[in-house]
Parts: sequence; structure tokens; C-alpha cells
Amino acid sequence: MDEGSHSVWKMIPGNTQPSGSFPKVRMRRNRRDAWNRRLIRENVLTTDDLIWPIFVAEGHGKKEEIAAMPGQFRWSPDRIVEAAIEAADLGIPAVAIFPEIEKTKKDPDGSEALNPENIVIQAIKAVKAAVPDIGVICDAALDPFTSHGQDGLVRDGYVVNDETVEVLCRQSVLQAMAGCDVISPSDMMDGRVGAIRDALDAAGQGHVRILSYAAKYASAFYMPFRDAIGSGTSLGQGDKKTYQMDPANTDEALREVALDIQEGADMVMVKPGLSYLDVIRRVKDTFGMPTVAYNVSGEYSMLKAASMQGWLNYERAMMEALVSFKRAGADAILTYSACEAARLMRDGFEG
Ligand code: PBG
Repeated sequence: MDEGSHSVWKMIPGNTQPSGSFPKVRMRRNRRDAWNRRLIRENVLTTDDLIWPIFVAEGHGKKEEIAAMPGQFRWSPDRIVEAAIEAADLGIPAVAIFPEIEKTKKDPDGSEALNPENIVIQAIKAVKAAVPDIGVICDAALDPFTSHGQDGLVRDGYVVNDETVEVLCRQSVLQAMAGCDVISPSDMMDGRVGAIRDALDAAGQGHVRILSYAAKYASAFYMPFRDAIGSGTSLGQGDKKTYQMDPANTDEALREVALDIQEGADMVMVKPGLSYLDVIRRVKDTFGMPTVAYNVSGEYSMLKAASMQGWLNYERAMMEALVSFKRAGADAILTYSACEAARLMRDGFEG
């Protein structure tokens, strides 16, 4: 058969027509030996690609396992340094700090977010003092601090945009002044990236980067995280659909990303990750920006839960999931598995 005229080959972009076919061509030859598989591997995960999200909670001497996220902990500000040291020792470039705020400190306006001595600020200072070379990333969003669990201020039952953005700017400046290297707006308000950029610059924090949660979806996969920071019970039956994106959309994701780039984002994020690999690929191809994927809590907990039942090999499934982000075009990945993955790679994990 003249396979050159066969239209299926024309469907592979950039691919030249094959010079032969079976039995001359046998794809399995290149898969026969480990050395050969290594040689032709197209995508490689490295420890340099990883960001470890860690949780800080009120109290002293505390390291408390998160029920819905086995193997992840809430650390009190005096102990969170242990997590940062663990990450740094493994060669992980950055950690992202998330707080569990005491219920009594939450109010409708999330005012604890602007307390210059809140536990996020304490954690930033402690980590930067003990491990100055690790990157510290913090959210700009109010949900850990609000009694209703929404990311912004609620007026007449609606999360208001512009007033929220003003608070986010103040929150961002406080975190930057404490030593945070990267502000990560996770709130999905319109115009917040540009406003935060201006606020940081005006406060002499021009070196602080913005990693925007540019395409963030209203996802069911955040539930273990909301458990971890106690925002799930605050949110109750509420949802975030008036600001987070509809999981059915991808063209809209490109508009979101374009706007954030225009407003000055240094890096853009797609979140969640595993159900949104197509979005990562489109974002990377369209903009060529430093593109970050968030392998969210629900994705972590699914693998943990299945492996605890003996239904999955956690290590292999996790490493396969992480390389899929590289295949999709992500430069970096926020993942609760960061330390586990780094340890496996250090020890020569072969799959
Ligand atoms: C807060 C925020 C959330 C996550 C990161 N920042 C939850 C949410 O938007 O409800 C989710 C992270 C995860 O599930 O791992 N805005």
C-alpha cells in the first residue's frame, strides 16, 4: 500500500511522511530497553519544576496531619520552618504558604488578612529568616479569613469586585513587605493583577513577582484544601461560580490569561491541573509564558485514598500524573507530592 498518500499521516502536524511501514517499521524496537527508552524520552520532570504548598495554623509546637490529605500537615508558625528546610534540602525551589485561620478571627470582611502579625506574615518571616534561598509564594485572596468562605467581600449576597481588589492590594503589600517573593492572586476578581502590580511598585516592592491564578475553575477538586484551611465549613452550600470559571470553557481561559499578562503577570497558572491539561497546552502554545499548573488537593487525595486501599501504586501513579503536566507544557507544578517526588527522583526512581 502506498502509505504516503494515506491521509492519516497528513493529520500529524509537522510530521514527515513515514518511509516505511510494518513489518519494516516496528515502534516497539525503541521501547525494548531501558537505555533506549531514556534516550528517546520527550519530557522530563525535575525537582526544579516543583512548588510545595504548605499549611500554617495558629498555635505553638504544632504539626498536625490533615485528615483529607494524608501525609500533609498544618504547621504552627514556630515549626513551619521544618517544612521549608525539608523542601530546600531536597532542592525544591519554592513553597506556597496557606493559612488555617482560627474561627474566632474570621469575619465577613476577612479583616485578619490585613493584620500585620497574622500567621501568614509570621510564617513568611520565619521561613525567609531560616531558609533565605527558598522562594516563598503567598495567595492574595480572602477565603481563609472570611466567615463566609468567599474569596472577596460580599455585598447584598454578591462578591463585589473593585472593593475586594483594594483589600487584595493591601494584603499583597503586607505579604511582600514581610519577605514574600511571589504574590499569587487566587481570587479571580477582574483587574486585580494590574492593581496589585501598581500597589507593589508604589510600596517599593517592584522586585516581587506576580503568579496569577489566571485560569482558575470553579472546581469540585478543591474540597480537601478547603478542609485543610477550614474554609469549606464557612462556605457551606455556597459556591464560587460568579468568579471562578466554568469547567466547560477554554476560549475564555485564553482571554483570562491574556488580560493577566497585559496587566503585568510574570507567570500564569492553570488550576486545577489534571482535568485541565488541554487548557495548559493551549495557554503555553498561545502565549509562551512561564506556565504553572496546580495539581490540586483533590487530585492528591484521590491518589492517596486509592493507594491506601491497595487499588493504586501511589508512587507510580503520582509520578505519571506529574510528567503529564510537563507533557501538557507546564514549566512548574504546585503539588502536595513535591517532597515525595523529589525524594524518588533523588533516589533514581525508574517507574
Ligand atoms: C483560595 C485557594 C483555593 C485553592 C488555592 N487557593 C481554594 C478555593 O479557591 O476555593 C485550592 C488549592 C487546592 O485545592 O489544592 N482561593
